[in-house]
Amino acid sequence: MANWSKIESDAKTWIYAAGETIRQSFQNVLQIQSKSNPDDLVTNMDKETEQYLISKINETYPEHRILGEEGFGHDIQSLEGIVWIVDPIDGTMNFVHQQRNFAISIGIYEDGVGQVGLIYDVVHDELYHAVKGKGAYMNDYRLPELKDVPLNQAVIALNATWVMENKRFDHNLLVPVAKAVRGTRSYGSATLEFAYVASGRLDAYITLRLAPWDFAAGLILLDEVGAKATTLDGEKINLIGQNSIFVAKKGIHSTILKDYLHK
Ligand code: IPD
Ligand code: CA
Ligand code: CA
Ligand code: CA
Repeated sequence: MANWSKIESDAKTWIYAAGETIRQSFQNVLQIQSKSNPDDLVTNMDKETEQYLISKINETYPEHRILGEEGFGHDIQSLEGIVWIVDPIDGTMNFVHQQRNFAISIGIYEDGVGQVGLIYDVVHDELYHAVKGKGAYMNDYRLPELKDVPLNQAVIALNATWVMENKRFDHNLLVPVAKAVRGTRSYGSATLEFAYVASGRLDAYITLRLAPWDFAAGLILLDEVGAKATTLDGEKINLIGQNSIFVAKKGIHSTILKDYLHK
């Protein structure tokens, strides 16, 4: 049996150390490249952070496997055994342009079940963390079970790409949702948006396409506070694929899905 509290404690040590290196890097000149398109940025710090985390995991847990956004981990086609899913910097565009609103994210799964989730808001020194069945925390503060609010008092995050036409989803369906809620936000870091739903700063988060490293840790945190997480079609999330994502307080999730997305 894996010792999850030891694994969590190691992961915390490494995520704090990686955060400190990133904070110190603010004074250095960043090397910025683009990946799939000119707006898809990666920096030397994304790569160095992933390499650092992977070397620590490999050294301490050679039998575990690692899926990392920047490709320094293993080729993961299934979640058999223990798999660490790492986003070294989530919100790279914010990191480059703002030096804030980004996070380091680690989700650890065993045979497809989320066991440990960590999301570290480096600039605010806020670590959101959860071990399955033991509650979710922001630093030392235990996050309470989420309480529902009426839709007209809800603040929800939407990735701004929802205003653009896309092949997968009728984006017009989101217009009445945006009108019905009290306010909308878009932070540009999926992992922080998950952490904000888990901590009640947001009542829901809707986005059209995320990869496993964007949601791996967030789903574990949300489970601990009683949030609901599905695709925008209300389906189960494929943990090793790309998905649309809809996470929310339970009542808000069911209202938006039934009354607005017609599922
Ligand atoms: C991105 C951020 C962004 C989300 C994108 C992600 P990255 O992650 O989470 O908020 O909208 O889909 O790719 O590339 O900065 O790690
Ligand atoms: Ca990226
Ligand atoms: Ca990401
Ligand atoms: Ca990233």
